[in-house]
Amino acid sequence: MKTAYPERRDSKRRMCVREVYRDDDARIIEGDSRKALADFPDNAFQCCVTSPPYWGLRDYGIDGQIGAENDPDTYIADLVGIFREVRRTLREDGTLWLNIGDSYTSGDRRWRAPDRKNPGRAMSYRPPTPKGLKPKDLIGVPWRLALALQADGWFLRSDIVWNKPNCQPESVKDRPTRAHEYVFLMSKSELYFYDGESIREPSANGNGPKNRRTVWNINTNGFHGAHFAVFPPELVRLCVLAGSKPDGMVLDPFFGSGTVGLVCREHQRRCVGIELNPAYVRIALERINQVHPRLAL
Ligand SMILES: C[S@@+](CC[C@H](N)C(=O)[O-])C[C@H]1O[C@@H](n2cnc3c(N)ncnc32)[C@H](O)[C@@H]1O
Repeated sequence: MKTAYPERRDSKRRMCVREVYRDDDARIIEGDSRKALADFPDNAFQCCVTSPPYWGLRDYGIDGQIGAENDPDTYIADLVGIFREVRRTLREDGTLWLNIGDSYTSGDRRWRAPDRKNPGRAMSYRPPTPKGLKPKDLIGVPWRLALALQADGWFLRSDIVWNKPNCQPESVKDRPTRAHEYVFLMSKSELYFYDGESIREPSANGNGPKNRRTVWNINTNGFHGAHFAVFPPELVRLCVLAGSKPDGMVLDPFFGSGTVGLVCREHQRRCVGIELNPAYVRIALERINQVHPRLAL
């Protein structure tokens, strides 16, 4: 039996936050997640599956975007604030599945030329080399963020390496080509919901499925429509299945083109997506409507 969506905590519509879609299974909110999350009650979501913009890597071209902060400390502080709100809205047994990639200092180049294969990597601004780092340094953003979230109260339960067998080639000559990102599994409490059975993986020796390992080999899917940083559905599927039961409520506060919503529909979960950029909201709407909840059952 489905329960109602969590209601707003107050009836006053906040500036710049509007609900653009709602049915029994999905809800899409256009606006800044910093504002939109405040409208949700405590203990509303079973899990959060999300991928915030990476620091200094892409220009989503909209005021209020996360990732365009001048230094990584401010970026991390902004994300810790947002994920504190996420934690409040999670059930006590809820989890966060956080995908995050790393970046290098710019070496004080102030822009990046468009890349034919990945136009979203063009940047009209690039932040200066952060204090304490040197040109060419790998910043270590994922672990800086994970440790900051742990210090803020999250239980850091697992780092998962998302290995991309089809990663983009790089023209570098003095380091290996980067082929991975992280997914951090974090929980609100010491004991939490985790359905390991649903994501077991085949064993090499033919002894039947084994507990899922921490390295996930999943190809990237390229970009969808005008969105450049789309989750592969298989990555989301593993997080959603392990993090929720059918009918469970899943949150993505950086919804982008709505991959989490799409996967939730396909696996009979309910989903709330929040996205700042109206152009991406439109892509998400189109994609969500391709899978009707009743047909997916
Ligand atoms: C890495 S993308 C997410 C892509 C998504 N997982 C998908 O599969 O399409 C991050 C998204 O966060 C959005 N964003 C940036 N700042 C935001 C904010 N303050 N509130 C809500 N969304 C924001 C960007 O517009 C971008 O679409």
